Amino acid sequence: MSSDLVSISYVSAAAEPFDDDRLHDLLAQSRRSNHEHDLTGMLLYRRGRFFQVLEGPLDAVDELMTKIRRDPRHTDVRVLLTEHIDDRRFTEWTMGYEPIGIPATPAPEGFRDTFDDLEADDEDASIRAVRELTVWFRARTASDD
Ligand SMILES: Cc1cc2nc3c(=O)[nH]c(=O)nc-3n(C[C@H](O)[C@H](O)[C@H](O)COP(=O)(O)O)c2cc1C
Repeated sequence: MSSDLVSISYVSAAAEPFDDDRLHDLLAQSRRSNHEHDLTGMLLYRRGRFFQVLEGPLDAVDELMTKIRRDPRHTDVRVLLTEHIDDRRFTEWTMGYEPIGIPATPAPEGFRDTFDDLEADDEDASIRAVRELTVWFRARTASDD
């Protein structure tokens, strides 16, 4: 049922900096597993900080969040937003890596500030940043087709 669909956005801090190899391993592992569990979303990595949006059936998202919270590769997992959604915003699970990625669409003006705003004490600012990054990421993915 569509009402069972949820979206969770969180930020976290890498336990140690991720290089390309580790990011690719995480990406490959996650893509496989998310596909099996009907999960979609996005993961951004910038300077030791992760920002992830996960969407899918409530149980599958909850189960994965439990694993993610325990994952020693990062700490300080902080959920910014949990929403029930009618439609998915991402059709597949993918990952952007700033500063290397993003060949097709330039990062939005203020991308760095937006990323920093995720961690703002001001809740409105951090939720606005979630929305802006989501819109940007979707536009970027669409233009890759
Ligand atoms: C920042 C970050 C994001 C992650 N995202 C996902 C993800 O989207 N899907 C996934 O299956 N695992 C993800 N993982 C890995 C999980 O924490 C966990 O290692 C994985 O689900 C395998 O768990 P299992 O061996 O207990 O099945 C992520 C880990 C980190 C550090």
